[in-house]
Formats: sequence, structure tokens, C-alpha cells
Amino acid sequence: MYDAGAVCDNCRPMRPVVLVTKRIYPEAIEFLKQHVELDYAESDDGLAAEELLKRIRGKQGVVSQLTDKFPAAVIDQLEGVRVIANVAVGFDNIDVAAATRRGILVTNTPDVLTDTTADFAFALLMAAARRVVEGHQFLLAGKWNKWRIDLLVGQDVHHRTLGLFGMGRIGQAVARRGSGFSMRILYHDAVRAPEAIERELDAEFVSAETLLRESDFVSLHVPLLPHTRHMISGPQLRMMKPTAILVNTSRGPVVDEAALAEALEQRVIAGAGLDVFENEPQVHPGLLKLENVVLEPHIASASVDTRKKMSMLAAENAVSALEGRRPATLLNAEVWEKLRGV
Ligand code: DGY
Repeated sequence: MYDAGAVCDNCRPMRPVVLVTKRIYPEAIEFLKQHVELDYAESDDGLAAEELLKRIRGKQGVVSQLTDKFPAAVIDQLEGVRVIANVAVGFDNIDVAAATRRGILVTNTPDVLTDTTADFAFALLMAAARRVVEGHQFLLAGKWNKWRIDLLVGQDVHHRTLGLFGMGRIGQAVARRGSGFSMRILYHDAVRAPEAIERELDAEFVSAETLLRESDFVSLHVPLLPHTRHMISGPQLRMMKPTAILVNTSRGPVVDEAALAEALEQRVIAGAGLDVFENEPQVHPGLLKLENVVLEPHIASASVDTRKKMSMLAAENAVSALEGRRPATLLNAEVWEKLRGV
């Protein structure tokens, strides 16, 4: 049976201790304080690898962010940790298999950020297609001295073809936005979506190659896994239409940034909207000098409400785990079942 917490000498339950590795929204901190003892690294800097390990010592829970790295080598040193609650839907910063082997629950924050992230993917798509940032910079630079028939002409979005790699929650939410613009929706995924979803979204399952060749907009919604690393590189970019636009709000390493910079410079494709990068916060220098790319600092989920909800969900997940309840958005159910003796 799962032991929710240690018991002290006078038989009052001792409160577990949680490390929060980086600043999160205050309401989540208040919630944590009501339930656990807190070690709060209240800064935006995050903890360097060694410091992180040192601070985790003696803690039972960790509220982490996507910049905290938990490879197997780190996980294997986590004595007494019962839960890692990541404030992100992506969890490529955590070796979940290693955590599972060690009996550590791992949670993420899906759902609460789906629509916000999809809104932003669509904003990037629109901005790149209609040259919104270029227009802004053109005006600020004092270059707007007359109306011209072909001034900053871009690509239409409505009635065009939207190709989605990944038809999970966020991919589906982007498809819904595309339908609102009367777009034809193609998708490719490792696993085909249920028929009901395909019907609702009027989405057609196609091969990766068909998606690349037929789409006017290619938007990426896959997790970072060994087989998705650099899934968009030179050969894939060359399959795309010269008028096509690539949007990435998933994880930077899904795209080979050097190959993309070259393809954009040589107009192999028309443009890109990127929120994520291979070595954040660094951006490939080849991308920084281009006009046909919209670059954003990993803010797709950054609405006030959503970032608060992400903070709260991670805090609630940590508390649930430490109080012996199944966390709402648990990634490794095997650990839970083993703890419960199922
Ligand atoms: C995530 O949640 O994985 C995003 O990248 C940050 O919101």
C-alpha cells in the first residue's frame, strides 16, 4: 500500500518537502505552502545541474520547468524523491523511463495550454503568411512613403492547405482554427486519429511526403523523441512548395535549424514562424538575418491565464502525489500502480 508520508515521533504526519526550481505564479506557491514544506528557488535563472542535485537532496517532490534537465544520470541520484511535476506539456527534459525504473512519479501540464498554444501557432502562421512583422519593421524604419500595388504582398491563408505533423490535442486545436479559415486539413502522425476526430475536423490522414508536397502551411505538433529529432531537414524542406510556410511551436530540435536557415535564404520555401529553437535561448545566426521568418522566444503558451493554470496544475500534481492521490496528469501510470500494489 502506498505510504502518503513519513510519520514523526509524536505521530503527527510530517509534511513532505518540495523544491520549486524556478519562479512560478504566486497562487501555485501559496497552494504548495498550504500542503508541503517549500524550498523555493525564486528566480528566473534556474539551477545549474550540480546546484539542482544539491537542492533536491532531502526533498520528496520537485516542481520543475522545461529548462531543468533530468537525464537518467541525474534521476539515478534522486534519493527519496517521489514526484517530479513538470510545468510544461512537453517532458523531453525528463527521462521518464529512468524515473519509472526508480519509482518516481512524473507529471506534465497538458490540456490547460492547448488552445493558447494553438492560437499562437495560428498567429505565427498568419504573421509569416501576411508578413506582419516585416510590415511593422518597414513602417518603423520610415520606409512607408506611398501605397503600392505589391507592397509586402504575401500568401493567402483562407482556402489553402494546412498540413499538421501530429494530431494530438494541440494539432487538433490548430486544425479547428484552420477549418475556420476554410482550409483543407491534411495530417500525418505515428498513430492515425480516431475516425470521429477525422470526421469532425474534416482531416485527411496522408503520408509525410504527401503532406510536405501538398501543404501550403506545415505546422509541427509532435513531441521531441529520437525519431522526431530533425524530422524536418534538407530533404523534407525540398519536398515543400516554394510558396510554403513552416510553423514550429513544438520543440526546436524537431527541425534542423541550419538546413532551415539555408532553405529560407535560398527561397526553397517562402517563410517560417518559429517559437522554439535547437539550443534555446540561442538562435541559429543564419535565421537572425532573414526577413522571411518570424522568430519568437518560446511563448506559445504564454497567456496570463494559461501560465497560471500550468503553475497550478503542476503544484496540484505534486501535492496529490505526496498526499497519496493519483496526480491528474500522470505520465507513468506504472509507478502509481506499483505503489498502490495493483
Ligand atoms: C510546453 O508546455 O511544453 C511548452 O513548450 C511551454 O509551454
